Order: sequence, then structure tokens, then C-alpha cells
Amino acid sequence: MAEALAPASVAETKEALASASYLADESAALVSFLAQRLGKPVLVEGPAGVGKTELAKALSRSSGRELIRLQCYEGLDEAKALYEWNYRKQLLRIQAGGTQGGWDEVQDDIFSEEFLLERPLMQAIASPEPVVLLIDEIDKTDQEFEAMLLELLSDFQITIPELGQVSATSMPIVILTSNNSRELTEALKRRCLYLWLDYPEMEREMEIVHLHAPDLPEALTRRLVEVVRMVRALDLKKPPSIAETIDWARTLLLMGAEDIDRETFKQSMSIIVKHRTDIDLVAERVGMKLAESVRPQS
Ligand SMILES: Nc1ncnc2c1ncn2[C@@H]1O[C@H](COP(=O)(O)OP(=O)(O)OP(=O)(O)O)[C@@H](O)[C@H]1O
Ligand SMILES: [Mg+2]
Repeated sequence: MAEALAPASVAETKEALASASYLADESAALVSFLAQRLGKPVLVEGPAGVGKTELAKALSRSSGRELIRLQCYEGLDEAKALYEWNYRKQLLRIQAGGTQGGWDEVQDDIFSEEFLLERPLMQAIASPEPVVLLIDEIDKTDQEFEAMLLELLSDFQITIPELGQVSATSMPIVILTSNNSRELTEALKRRCLYLWLDYPEMEREMEIVHLHAPDLPEALTRRLVEVVRMVRALDLKKPPSIAETIDWARTLLLMGAEDIDRETFKQSMSIIVKHRTDIDLVAERVGMKLAESVRPQS
């Protein structure tokens, strides 16, 4: 099995991710390191927008491996995830005829690799170069699909009845993400390393904002992250994620805002709060606080 150069330490992994624009905390760096050294898949869970998908993309950038992505959805089946036979091409081959050997030969021919349409899981296994395989939002699929993944995740091989076994020639880094919309099976969890990603600490979130909106002055970046954290502390339907913090930072830059006062907040809060009931609550609780702290009555 062809091996890619794996990082020598957790610190090296963290640095490599940072150079690929991903600021990993200790646990994310550790799991990314172990995934490469132990050759085990990683299951990343956590709320929306905390960098689960981005971790896989960053691993691809930092290791120079191609990213192969399987976006999961309800009803996803093997034909879209693994492989399917190219029926049109098979039909054309049958119609074209042209062999002496008759049906047996045609049959051998149309069930060969040439007539196979490789889908993401198959592509990752068959790739001669080591890749990063992202199985995104696995919780959207059903338990049958998970069961199908088990052979792949434990042995890195796929069985095609007409062709036999296809085994990985290079070890992929496999990242599965889940938003926790349903509990995943124990069998799947057992085969994976586990990473829980949560909203970051204050300082780390500032660093992430700085990475994506470097022109925003430091004081304003701090204020912005403080306000986002204040909003997150409320009991909202959908608390703002890192993705929304970044969007808000870029919005403030475009607005030319110098501080987050009540007016600026009112104009731009729909960037971070996206539910009618949440908007009312945030306007009342956070908006009021801003008015007091930023523009004190003299
Ligand atoms: N540690 C980090 N370093 C740099 N950027 C980050 C980090 N975490 C998150 N981001 C940024 O936050 C945004 C959202 O990340 P991502 O799309 O990976 O979230 P997610 O957890 O997959 O969300 P969802 O569950 O909605 O799919 C991205 O633009 C990403 O660049
Ligand atoms: Mg995602």
C-alpha cells in the first residue's frame, strides 16, 4: 500500500493545518495526527458552522492529497456513493455486437471496469495516489447506508459481485462529519476516532476572524467576538457559528463601521441571527446592552 508522508508530531500537524489556513485546537490537531499515523477514519461531530467540513479540506491542502467528497443526503444509495454500471454504454456495446464469441464474451466485456461509473467512495479506494475522503453529513443517511460503510471503513475495500474485491492501493485519510441530527450506530463509532468540535475560545475565534478578515482592526475584532459570544449565551433556536462571525466581520468592513453601537448592530444583526423569534430576543437583550455600554447617556 502506497504511504503518504505522515506528520512526525502533533505540533507539526497543527503547523501544517495553520499553513493551510485552519487554526486547529489541541484535540483537532491530535486527532488529525492520529488519523494519519494509525490510518483510522475520524468522526467529527458538533454544531453547524464550527469547521467540521473545513478540517477535511484543510487536511487535503496541508498534505497535498486530493479531496474526494461524498455529500450525504436522505435516500443516498450505493449507486450514487460507490459505483454503478453504465447502462447506456453497456447497451451500445450489446447493440454494436461484433464479437465471434457470442453472449458469454459480451457479458464478460460489459461487466468490466470500462463500463463502471466510479462514485466518490470507489474513487477514493481505487485512487493510485493517497487522497482525503470526506463523507460529509453522514447523519443525513439511514442505518443501512452506515452498515454498507463498515466494510469500507474497516478494511478499505469494496466488493463488486461481477468483478470481485477492489482494495485500496493507498491509505486515504477519511473524515466523516455529523450534525448530530440522529444518533450514529455503535458499530460505526467503534471504527472511528472521535472529535467533538465546539464553538472556539475567545482568543481562537479572534484569530480565525483575523485570518478571514485581516483588515478588521483588532479592537473591533475583539468587540465583534464578544458580542457574538453574548448572542450565543442566549437560548436561541440557532446560535451564530464561526461562519456567521466571519460573515459579520466582512460586513462590518464593507459598512466601514468603527464600532458596534446600537445602530450598526440593528442594521447588520441579520447576518448572525436568522430566525424571526431569535431576532426579537437578540434585539431586546443584546441591542439594549450595546446602547448602554457604547453610547452612555450623558
Ligand atoms: N479552526 C478554523 N480555522 C479557520 N477557519 C475556520 C475554522 N473553523 C471554522 N472556520 C471557518 O468557518 C466556516 C464554516 O466552517 P465549515 O463549513 O467547515 O462548518 P461545518 O462545521 O462543516 O458546518 P455545517 O455543519 O453547517 O456543515 C468556514 O468558512 C471555515 O473557513
Ligand atoms: Mg459542513
